[in-house]
Amino acid sequence: MIPRRCGVGLLLAGNLLGAGGVVFAAGESAPQFPEGAASFQQNCAVCHGASGAGLPSLAPPLTAYPARYAASAEGRRQLAMTVLYGLFGEIAVADKRFDFKMPDFARLDDATLAATLNFVVFELAHAPATVAPLTAAEIAAERAHPADGAAVREHRKTVVPATP
Ligand code: HEC
Repeated sequence: MIPRRCGVGLLLAGNLLGAGGVVFAAGESAPQFPEGAASFQQNCAVCHGASGAGLPSLAPPLTAYPARYAASAEGRRQLAMTVLYGLFGEIAVADKRFDFKMPDFARLDDATLAATLNFVVFELAHAPATVAPLTAAEIAAERAHPADGAAVREHRKTVVPATP
């Protein structure tokens, strides 16, 4: 597997070096959401991979669906509730099935969760610039409606993109 964005791996190295140690490969554009990139590498990459490719049968790829979710109001809610409350039960991403449990990240603050999702949506899933970045206010609004991973899966059925 050839990493599409070597910068992501370097970001991880940067993190390990400490605050402010984030580095980029020469000639590569910096992520638009450096705090989100750092949070993703710290909190999400262990399962979804540094470039969001996922792990076969264990964790889904984040390289396509998040961009489509971010383009609709209910899809944006879905992204927020997935990180706030986790996701539990069988899902399909493109033609692949996953049936596992994503932990919740409610302990992270709203701004950090929004930045993490923006890294996923724009840097990993390449949403077009016409899509508005998620805001801390959108995360806060979802935090006001407690749910669990099974409920998040139910909501996902209403927003999951049609198989490409
Ligand atoms: C312990 C492993 C693990 C970690 C850590 C993790 N995830 Fe997940 N994630 C999963 C699994 C497993 C699923 C699918 C759950 C299922 O099968 O119902 C998932 C699903 C998702 C989905 C839904 C994809 C879709 O198509 O609906 C998103 C978005 C997501 N994760 C983002 C993140 C973000 C952002 C982080 C970090 C804040 C993160 N994940 C951390 C395991 C993980």
